[in-house]
Amino acid sequence: MFVGLDIGTSSVKAILLGEDQSLVASATAELTVQRPHPGWSEQDPDSWWRACEAVLDALKAQAPRELAAVKGIGLSGHMHGATLLNGDGVPLRPCILWNDGRSGKQCAELEAAEPAFLTLGGNRVMPGFTAPKLQWVRENEPEIFAKTAMVLLPKDYVRFKLTGDYVGDMSDSAGTLWLDVAKRDWSDQLLAATGLTRQHMPRLVEGSDTSGTVKSDLCARWGFDQAPAVAGGGGDNAASACGVGAVDPGSAFVSLGTSGVLFVTNDRFSPNVESAVHAFCHAIPETWHQMGVILSATDSLNWLASRLKKSPEDLTGELRTIKAPASVSFMPYLGGERTPHNDVDIRAGFFGIGHETDDAALTHAVMDGVAFALKDCLDALSVAGTKVERVLAVGGGSRSRTWLEIIASVLDVPVDVPVDGDFGASLGAARLGQAAALGTTDGVFAKPALKASIDPLPTLTDPYAEAYGRWRKLYPALKQAGF
Ligand code: XUL
Repeated sequence: MFVGLDIGTSSVKAILLGEDQSLVASATAELTVQRPHPGWSEQDPDSWWRACEAVLDALKAQAPRELAAVKGIGLSGHMHGATLLNGDGVPLRPCILWNDGRSGKQCAELEAAEPAFLTLGGNRVMPGFTAPKLQWVRENEPEIFAKTAMVLLPKDYVRFKLTGDYVGDMSDSAGTLWLDVAKRDWSDQLLAATGLTRQHMPRLVEGSDTSGTVKSDLCARWGFDQAPAVAGGGGDNAASACGVGAVDPGSAFVSLGTSGVLFVTNDRFSPNVESAVHAFCHAIPETWHQMGVILSATDSLNWLASRLKKSPEDLTGELRTIKAPASVSFMPYLGGERTPHNDVDIRAGFFGIGHETDDAALTHAVMDGVAFALKDCLDALSVAGTKVERVLAVGGGSRSRTWLEIIASVLDVPVDVPVDGDFGASLGAARLGQAAALGTTDGVFAKPALKASIDPLPTLTDPYAEAYGRWRKLYPALKQAGF
């Protein structure tokens, strides 16, 4: 038996898998995001741990005998969050999340001061990443910076609570921008640029290796027969890739979660900083990946639903069959954008609203806008030399077949829909737990059974190509106008 624990932005999910990777039990606990200032995004690290306790308690209530037999636990989590601990392992402030935009100034300064962020680090210094957030804390909260003894990523804080060890994995650690991504080791040079050293960083392991074992008091609480091995695990995107078997070079997926991601596996470190492509380590040894990331995917639909006082499911349910692109355009930049613009200040907008525009038209516009932003990512990856032939769909938004039909037609590639699409990252985490417990990755990362394959609709691809051509002119026009 194996457990996957995924610390998502809006919830913690746990799954219990049998030896044959069949789903035995699952549980979810909600999380909230705090936004104390416009553009800021924070979470209390202990809320992750309380949610993990709740989901593991729930697994115990559902399947106590099976949980007792767990041999491996894998962790995944939202990436880039800066969790600052004092010398006693206590958080010094709320975690600054992946979609927090406060560090724009620090990003520009760090890129100018240390060009190796673009080469060794392999990425633009973007406000979502961890290094510029520490620079912000150094400048704005010097008393907290001075007390910082350890910097952990969100899932690695959960690991610390679970095992007592400070350990990170390669995929998530690449997203700090302190990693020499080709060497899979911390870079003293990049750490020094933000006033830190290796002493502030956890030990590194590969995602599929063992990082430690569960503490004895917790083994007693959840009734584990033997202390389960805790795998290195992965950032949520690398873990999702493990969940859908996207571990061989060229395999790709699209994730419709709070963020939207187009992810491709590579056999080597393949940076392309010009179009803000992310180039990180994968969660399995000697493998890397590229991805385009948009900050507000289901977040855009959730925002609209909350304004209209409906649920996202109500909104997507109101859409009839898509016969043409939406007449209204939506730019999904609620919290700025990463790929391809790397623009923390841009904000979202609708264009083309008329007297006739109803809730369904706004919903359609949001779904098209997110699909167009993913097309921007596809183009950025293609500039980086990567061709995507087909994608698997994961994440909560992939439950909407209409959205996937739009995405297939906009990207003009077939979209495969796995049977358990919304369990991507927790499934990948459980598989990494299995690999760590068994001591091998062989046969662990199979591709999932497919529920459907959605081809681009011939009647929609040309109209969507035209609509995308118009949509992509909006961003430069808004920038030129000073927005
Ligand atoms: C990736 C990113 C997001 C988060 C949250 O760079 O910031 O995808 O991992 O899911």
